[in-house]
Amino acid sequence: MTTNWWRDAVIYQVYIRSLADGSGDGVGDIAGIRSRLPHFADLGVDALWITPWYPSPMADGGYDVADYRDIDPLFGSLDDAQRLIEEAHDAGLRVIIDLVPNHTSDQHPWFKDALSGHRRDRYVFREGRDGGPPNDWRSVFGGPAWTRVDDGTWYLHLFAPEQPDLNWDHPEVRAEFESIIRWWLDRGVDGFRIDVAHGLVKDPALPDLGADREDIAEPPRRADHPHWDREGVHEVYRSWRAISDSYAGERVFVAEAWVAKPERLANYVRPGELHTAFNFDFLRCSWHAGRLRAVIDSSLHALGAVGAPATWVLSNHDVVRHVTRYGRAQHTGPRHDPDEPVDLAVGLRRARAAVLLMLALPGSAYLYQGEELGLWEVEDLPVSVLQDPTWQRSGHTVRGRDGCRVPLPWSGDEPPFGFGGGGAWLPQPAEWAMLTAQSQKDDPGSMLNLYREALRIRRAHEAFGDGTMTWLDSPEGVLVFARDPGVICVVNLSADNFPIPDHRGVLLSSVPISGTVPPDAAVWLTV
Ligand code: GLC
Repeated sequence: MTTNWWRDAVIYQVYIRSLADGSGDGVGDIAGIRSRLPHFADLGVDALWITPWYPSPMADGGYDVADYRDIDPLFGSLDDAQRLIEEAHDAGLRVIIDLVPNHTSDQHPWFKDALSGHRRDRYVFREGRDGGPPNDWRSVFGGPAWTRVDDGTWYLHLFAPEQPDLNWDHPEVRAEFESIIRWWLDRGVDGFRIDVAHGLVKDPALPDLGADREDIAEPPRRADHPHWDREGVHEVYRSWRAISDSYAGERVFVAEAWVAKPERLANYVRPGELHTAFNFDFLRCSWHAGRLRAVIDSSLHALGAVGAPATWVLSNHDVVRHVTRYGRAQHTGPRHDPDEPVDLAVGLRRARAAVLLMLALPGSAYLYQGEELGLWEVEDLPVSVLQDPTWQRSGHTVRGRDGCRVPLPWSGDEPPFGFGGGGAWLPQPAEWAMLTAQSQKDDPGSMLNLYREALRIRRAHEAFGDGTMTWLDSPEGVLVFARDPGVICVVNLSADNFPIPDHRGVLLSSVPISGTVPPDAAVWLTV
């Protein structure tokens, strides 16, 4: 029976190094995830997406994979992974794993071969130009995208030098990933999140980027970008879809594709291609009614045109946590200024309203671990503990993404707050004592209970999830929309109280409500 579960699923992102540590070495692992299955089931999510757990030198937190068919000993063993998949299924949770096809680790056997002069055709090696790299491309983490090897030739890495880009024009590369996908599907995973799905295929002429090279970490502005969002990636995904369709149990793909506009994103989820794609326009949008409404409309329009559900996401392991983003006066994603002051109380209040908005929209949603606890970005980590390659590669000018990767606080009054028995690989703020899962569990007004209630209602009420929505009249700064049958969502982003529309009952509100919806608050009503 087809359930199309993925069209309205709520998927919880596990950043494995920071969820929970079962082995006592200070780093999260599979045993830690297994120990927290009751948390996910109680929260009411449908699936977990687990970030890379493969053997890796950890130059980029595991996004540098040395062996795609095993588990890093830091995280456990293949048996542990198998057990987790089975236990998750028993708890009613599906498991999506991270697939990293754009690049391998420099410790992958293929790259070691290439360095010793054999089979370089599976990567992108080129002669230099005028004593420098072959072209002007930049690494997303800073510095040139090329590194020179002993014999004077250069190899391409759009990320760290420890992450050489694969050559997707090579049939062996394609065959290998098809085999890896089958290997994990045979082990029972329910799907894959595709890392850098917009990057695999490059223009073989490797033309200079010119003025566009400084914006390398932004979605491409031009149509014919030589390494982002090229037409050629779609052929790869059509072949993958044929594989997942040949398995029972509705196995799915979600694309991480940073592209210029919703129509480009929709190309990834056309019939016969991937199932869903992250909606980074929503994540990057500021706390502004008009702009959010425009993003919602354009997303639903573009994705609906190809028959795909929309997805919604507020945070992940690569961006500043949204409590902090929304707590800044500019409250933006893309041009985030870390020196601007943050009002965490405002950020938290908006985050509560934002999750009611997100979970009321048609489609599926992604939660990032810790957002259900209201965690903020840790922006004052001592530089001595920073591990994100961005910090080194930017010449110590950009701190990078460690601030959203601080290990989760589960219980107790002191670090590591029940994360594990052996400390935590990044220091946790002492104030997180008030944000532990344990301290929020019995507090009806906590963020954790808002998430639980919202997910419970969303699951029970047929108006939510996949489907359509209708905007209702509202003043500037207020979003009001209906979901059939019989639900209205109001989100007040203005500075004034908004009178509650006629209704039968209040399903849930982000703050206590009587008569009006106050600024930075949201409510779900039955009508
Ligand atoms: C994706 C991941 C990010 C990683 C990069 C390179 O953007 O989300 O964490 O650094 O790919 O693999």
